[in-house]
Amino acid sequence: MNYNIALIKGDGIGPEIVSSAVRVLEKIGERFGHTFNFTDYLMGGIAIDTCGNPLPQETIDGCRAADSVLLGAVGGPKWDKNPAALRPEKGLLGIRSALGLYTNLRPAKLYSALSSECPLRADIVEKGFDLMIVRELTGGIYFGERGRRDGKYGPEAYDTEAYSVMEIERIARVAFETAKKRGGRLMSIDKANVLETSRLWREIMHRIGEEEYPEVVLSDMLVDNAAMQLVRCPSQFDVIVTSNMFGDILSDEASQITGSIGLLPSASLGDGKCGLYEPIHGSAPDIAGQDKANPIATILSAAMMLRYSFGLAKEADAIEAAVDSVLEAGLRTADIIGTSDKAPLGCTAMTDAILAAI
Ligand code: IPM
Ligand code: MG
Repeated sequence: MNYNIALIKGDGIGPEIVSSAVRVLEKIGERFGHTFNFTDYLMGGIAIDTCGNPLPQETIDGCRAADSVLLGAVGGPKWDKNPAALRPEKGLLGIRSALGLYTNLRPAKLYSALSSECPLRADIVEKGFDLMIVRELTGGIYFGERGRRDGKYGPEAYDTEAYSVMEIERIARVAFETAKKRGGRLMSIDKANVLETSRLWREIMHRIGEEEYPEVVLSDMLVDNAAMQLVRCPSQFDVIVTSNMFGDILSDEASQITGSIGLLPSASLGDGKCGLYEPIHGSAPDIAGQDKANPIATILSAAMMLRYSFGLAKEADAIEAAVDSVLEAGLRTADIIGTSDKAPLGCTAMTDAILAAI
């Protein structure tokens, strides 16, 4: 089969890690008889510098026409002081929204080979964990009305969170379906003791659960407690469903307990097959262009693309098994080197090792 993939390399380490994932996809193509065609598009800081817009229309059109999108990372100190409309992050939020990608899947599991990198206590590590965060991606406070105004105490800033019944229902169904295919347990995380959006969220989660998914065990947890439970006992979670902002925060926390944020992939999906696949980490401008980045999160994101957008499960398995095997063999990039006395591999050498394992 022939697949057209839009590449958004972005800023910082983006180009290096996307190139690594492209090499892996080409290898998979060779081994399993598929052709992947790649087309580059600009987004983020580089798009601001080149065309004065973090999300050029050409990028939106190219991504819509593609079978799927692979993204590196955007942002960097160079654009940090820009006004809101000219920030790289605006491009990222914009493309998710333009493509209707309201679901963000962020799996976090502890690799046994990396258990020594886990910052948690030995008895917690021993139990392991393997969880999936289902983050709502195109609603809530990241997309609400915001601005500056004169307030009671003088000038103030405000951001607003709104969730419609429709937005909660559709993410609920994705989360219940995900739980059905995994361990059958769904934890909905909110702040229903304070926020009205959370009270609606909770109400709808329970209605959908009772009416459509009686076989899934649904529980609720307040977000502050969830932040604590993730480090106290992560093995209690199977599937987590939560709002855009809570999912953003909790997924960074979940990544760190796996050993490194450099390992976690993500898939952003809508109602169609086209998705956007990206590592959950940022553009790491401090190590950009030095061949030090960990390409694993992006390579695993490419595996998610094969699985979720193209239905190529055994090809995705082959990538994941190759990543497992290099980690088992003790190969490490700098972010996961821990106390090992071996020299860390660079981005290219780690990619070479994964290619060899495929
Ligand atoms: C992420 C990032 C983005 C987000 C930022 C860069 C807008 O933190 O993908 O988690 O909040 O979604
Ligand atoms: Mg984030």
